[in-house]
Amino acid sequence: MTASLERQWTHFSGRMLMIGFGCVAQGVLLLLLRHIAMRPGQITVLAPPECDYSVAESCGVRVDKLAVTRSNLSSILPERLEAGDFLLNLSVDVSCVDLMAWCQAHGVLYLDACTEPWTGGYLDASLPPEARTNHALRQAALALRDGKRGSPTAVITHGVNPGLVSHFVKQALVNLGRDLLPGISVPRDQQGWASLAQRLGIRAIHIAERDTQAPSQRKQVGEFVNTWSVEGLHGEACQPAELGWGSHERWLPACARLLDGANGAVWLNRPGGETRVRSWTPLEGSYHGFLITHSESLSIADYLTVRGSEGVSYRPTVLYAYYPCDDTVLSLHEAAGRNWHLQDRRRLLGADEIVSGMDELGVLLLGHARNAYWYGSRLTIEQTRKLCPFNNATSLQTAAGVLSGVVWAIENPNAGIVEPDDLPFRELMAIAGPYLGEMVGAYGDWTPLRDRCALFADDGRDDDPWQFVNMLLD
Ligand SMILES: NC(=O)c1ccc[n+]([C@@H]2O[C@H](COP(=O)([O-])OP(=O)(O)OC[C@H]3O[C@@H](n4cnc5c(N)ncnc54)[C@H](O)[C@@H]3O)[C@@H](O)[C@H]2O)c1
Repeated sequence: MTASLERQWTHFSGRMLMIGFGCVAQGVLLLLLRHIAMRPGQITVLAPPECDYSVAESCGVRVDKLAVTRSNLSSILPERLEAGDFLLNLSVDVSCVDLMAWCQAHGVLYLDACTEPWTGGYLDASLPPEARTNHALRQAALALRDGKRGSPTAVITHGVNPGLVSHFVKQALVNLGRDLLPGISVPRDQQGWASLAQRLGIRAIHIAERDTQAPSQRKQVGEFVNTWSVEGLHGEACQPAELGWGSHERWLPACARLLDGANGAVWLNRPGGETRVRSWTPLEGSYHGFLITHSESLSIADYLTVRGSEGVSYRPTVLYAYYPCDDTVLSLHEAAGRNWHLQDRRRLLGADEIVSGMDELGVLLLGHARNAYWYGSRLTIEQTRKLCPFNNATSLQTAAGVLSGVVWAIENPNAGIVEPDDLPFRELMAIAGPYLGEMVGAYGDWTPLRDRCALFADDGRDDDPWQFVNMLLD
């Protein structure tokens, strides 16, 4: 093992309660024990009885076979946590806002990788679509800040995306600045980053991901296959598509609703799993991705907004263009055809059944003087196996983000509620970097108008390539 894979970044003497023990939690456990000076006996894993606990047992951590519900939350937590302890929430179907509120009130550190609602929250047809958006979940989480300073640290949504991609954006802005604005210095605060993005002329940012991991046994009829949570992706695919709305955008598509002009949140009156956008990664080239709602689309757009006395003068459009592995694309297609009733058979692809592929996951900065710049991680399944057992490429990228956020929270225990964009990007990247495979920056001449099918007349909805309507497929 190289030195960076052995380094202990911090120590922790309290108790750590991990809620949920699926793909990401199993992937991160060994990283926590490797990089944080703590004993396995300090960690308890709490998840429903049907969970596979073999990784926890092999690491010697405690196991508590229990599901968290609205009604038992207030008894479960005080029995297991007190001030100075850590709640690491990597579950689905448990309200992050309720967990975080309890931690804030009881001096407990907190981290999650997604703002989850209680069971069924993504799929509750009695709620209007806007109540099922990530904008609504994000606002509920941020409302807990409530003007408080110095409250216990709660790092929200810090996996890889959301999570590390916010740091990729900053590194990409620095790289572009070095090439296009020689002599610029690295910004120190939100205003500095937003004005650098404005000076560089960034019009749109895509979280551009292509996962090519393939299993030995391909997806079967009536089966949903994924490289991370099946239920998690199904929930996101059923939420309305969402994006951060740039100040250069000239018109909203008919299905789009501007939720909040102040921070540029837009939702589409259709599920993300049925909404596709054009995007690009260096290895895949031009592709069609799903416009899945993610909190980073909102938080990055919000963070890079330039506000003055006259209101907003600059904001990039930010969206997630997800091209999952081929078996997941088929799974989504089949689920959509079943009116989004999730298939009964579900398979999460473990490292041992994946025979090839990588997760190419980065940020694509568009509209500047060099046209397009992608910066991100290329992690193959072979590299993953060497770096850390119990992981596929997707879970290891996520686990690296979780590890870096946990270390930062332990080192900075009174920072209050923070999003990835609020954190020091170099510090977090130094911790996560060794697990991200090859970090690559590449320019490209792609635009959403280039290479459109020459066999048909192009409807050419707008001749400015960086308008959202040119990204949206149908
Ligand atoms: N930010 C990122 O980069 C990123 C990437 C992947 C996943 N995620 C998020 O991380 C979380 C975990 O993802 P995953 O892929 O490990 O999911 P998973 O489906 O593999 O695991 C979820 C776990 O939650 C447990 N769970 C379900 N109901 C529970 C309850 N009531 N009480 C306690 N535990 C319960 C399940 O038993 C399971 O162990 C999800 O919120 C997902 O959206 C974030």
